[in-house]
Amino acid sequence: MHQNHSPERDGFASRLGVLAAVAGSAVGLGNIWKFPYITGKNGGAAFVLVYLVCIVIIGLPVMLSEFAIGRGAKRNAVGSFKKLAPGAPWYLTGLWGVAAAFIILAYYGVVAGWTLEYIFSAVTNAFAGKTSVALEADFLSFISQPFRPLLWQVVFMLLTGFIVLAGVKSGIERASKILMPLLVVLILVLDVRALTLPGAMEGLSFLFKPDFSKLTAVGVLEALGHAFFTLSLGMGILITYGSYINKNENLAFTAFQVTAADTIIALMAGVAIFPAVFAFNIEPSSGAGLAFITLPNVFLQMPGGYVFSILFFTLLAIAALTSTISLLEVVVACFSEELKISRTRATIVGTVSIILLGIPCSLSQGVMADFKIFGKNVFDLLEFASSNIMLPSGGLIIALFAGWYLGRNKIEKELSNDGSLSAGYMPTFMLLVKFIAPIAIAVVFLHGMGLF
Ligand code: TRP
Repeated sequence: MHQNHSPERDGFASRLGVLAAVAGSAVGLGNIWKFPYITGKNGGAAFVLVYLVCIVIIGLPVMLSEFAIGRGAKRNAVGSFKKLAPGAPWYLTGLWGVAAAFIILAYYGVVAGWTLEYIFSAVTNAFAGKTSVALEADFLSFISQPFRPLLWQVVFMLLTGFIVLAGVKSGIERASKILMPLLVVLILVLDVRALTLPGAMEGLSFLFKPDFSKLTAVGVLEALGHAFFTLSLGMGILITYGSYINKNENLAFTAFQVTAADTIIALMAGVAIFPAVFAFNIEPSSGAGLAFITLPNVFLQMPGGYVFSILFFTLLAIAALTSTISLLEVVVACFSEELKISRTRATIVGTVSIILLGIPCSLSQGVMADFKIFGKNVFDLLEFASSNIMLPSGGLIIALFAGWYLGRNKIEKELSNDGSLSAGYMPTFMLLVKFIAPIAIAVVFLHGMGLF
């Protein structure tokens, strides 16, 4: 089929649109579902503090590297490396990232589908009158059914596909500009509700008053890994999004704003959740079920719980949607530009194949639970391989590529918009990206592989 190549590559139209889309990618299930439960599991504030340090010394520099690579090359995650390092194998990093996006989206779409089921349960008042044991049984029986979770996963992926199909400017940017402000309003409402509960202070001190005796070595490594996941780093998402950013935007300032927004929203999710957890005597370390089992229990006991449960699961779905959009875009941009197929075709092929890979992930919660590879079911295997192996190794190579291959001059030229912005942070940035980030990432990587 013959392709029309428009001279103008699609991209973000406005500064606010860039922020909404990149923050939309970063803020996701990682912030609202995962951050609170791993904070609870790791004992609270001391863990939060380590996570914040990781965000600043690793997250920010790697994010800025991805932006500089993407905007410098103006290509997708694979094409960017091919253009900046012609004839060299660096482009494999991009391919690795596209594969990671594929895999993450397969299981992320399953959890995103669960949020739709829970909006439905909240609206139909299905939690009413249940004990916490019954809520747990409900959750487990729902995720282990063969068809219902699959149906929601397909609905969620189709929604993602339609937005991506519409393009960068009229799909991704437009959707993010509506969804992100809505997300901020929803989480503010939930925060106000949580802070006016009796016992709110106890929840806040759990989140903000560090007790270092609760911090373990594994907790430190988990904080580091989560910094990557929550900022959407290590797999070329921000290379792809960076390639849509206008040449006169200040990349360092954008990276700073996105990192701050992502962190603030994670903390706001903690503020929405922990006061309620303490007010109703729930164990903060109850793990992955915190959002789907514990919170419905909290909502039941809370005045106005019916409305707040609807708001909460809607928030979770919106956060997930702007992230699934970014994951699909990496795949679509790469397919359409590298294989020279139309964007429509690339979106259809990408969406359908991700749905297919999602099927065993969803079924592994039920009928396929006993199908194990390396002792893990399909869902856990894909989650483990992507978060603990693919992201850190991708991030490490990206940092090395920016710091050592491109080097200070090329990076500074891109970050300073050809010298028109001052970039006084360059010496610190180079130190972080050449040495500190790679060493710290190597530590997470080796841990993820179980090597120490
Ligand atoms: N950052 C998102 C979250 O916190 C998830 C996500 C989107 C992601 N794109 C990613 C994670 C790329 C790792 C890599 O939920």
